[in-house]
Amino acid sequence: MKNKIINLLREHPEMYHSGESISTTLGVSRTAIWKHIKALKLEGYAIESVTNRGYRLLEEPRILNQRNVESLQQAYDFIEFTLYLESVDSTNYEAKRQALNHSKQGLIVAGEQTNGKGRLGRTWASQANAGLWTSLLLRPNIEPESASKVTLTAATAMAEALTALTGLEIGIKWPNDLVVNGKKVCGILTEMSAELNHVHYIILGTGVNISQIDFPEDLKNKATSLKLEGANVLAIEVLKMFLDRFSHYYHLFVEGEMAEIIAHHKKHSVTLGKEVIIETLGEKRQALALDIDLNGNLIIENRQKEKETVFSGEVSVRGINGYI
Ligand code: BTN
Repeated sequence: MKNKIINLLREHPEMYHSGESISTTLGVSRTAIWKHIKALKLEGYAIESVTNRGYRLLEEPRILNQRNVESLQQAYDFIEFTLYLESVDSTNYEAKRQALNHSKQGLIVAGEQTNGKGRLGRTWASQANAGLWTSLLLRPNIEPESASKVTLTAATAMAEALTALTGLEIGIKWPNDLVVNGKKVCGILTEMSAELNHVHYIILGTGVNISQIDFPEDLKNKATSLKLEGANVLAIEVLKMFLDRFSHYYHLFVEGEMAEIIAHHKKHSVTLGKEVIIETLGEKRQALALDIDLNGNLIIENRQKEKETVFSGEVSVRGINGYI
């Protein structure tokens, strides 16, 4: 509904839109419109409200900066602090430094990363203002073995956010790579500090390629950006849409209710129904990806036609004909 209201105000930014006309057009009460406008203001939209005239959009929160990132905090109860850094080594490193200083949950966003981290010790190219480079510092009250599900949860939220914003067909390569037309557009790196039965904190780092038009030779066949796929979006829009979806799913995740998340994950899956290569500790074998269970594990059928459960984090999964 917030998006519908903002689209309506955007159509004619020069004029006032009365609460009554918005409520008739969108079929919701004036009180609901007022509440959504209030939430939009908290997100950084400058909306003028004039008695007897209505609402007018003055300015959108278009760029990533401390003010705009800070304005997001009030909209999401799980975010207790925000930090925007023009340049940082890695938002995941920064989240770790923050975690050692206090016990809050928070959102860290950077314009660029000079030492972006990928999974399995790889680096993650994070040019200035070419993408969304962000980490959430989370302190869920869960068992350590449940933590990997937060990655799947974030992948689902981001797939939905990017689909809604761009109209592109966003796929999820199990467990957490987001792909468009066979190439990776978003990666997620989850790190955790825990004792055997207690999670201290989880760092959920997400990188979305938004506007790169060129990738290094070794990545050209595997990586893409939203822009290269024909979608022009802003990092702040991606961040907001992601947080909207993630906040809903995060509460379910903390409650241990994974059914809805997994169902939505499966809708975007480009892994299910495919022959995949499962690589564990250097050993590769081929299998058919059958399903994803409620713990987020991949169910496969091996060469002997037996079903097996593959745990995320333990393996690397590739399609038999390449990256997907
Ligand atoms: C992958 O290898 O697929 C994971 C990439 C994760 C990149 C993001 S960008 C924001 C956060 N900070 C980092 O250093 N890495 C993650």
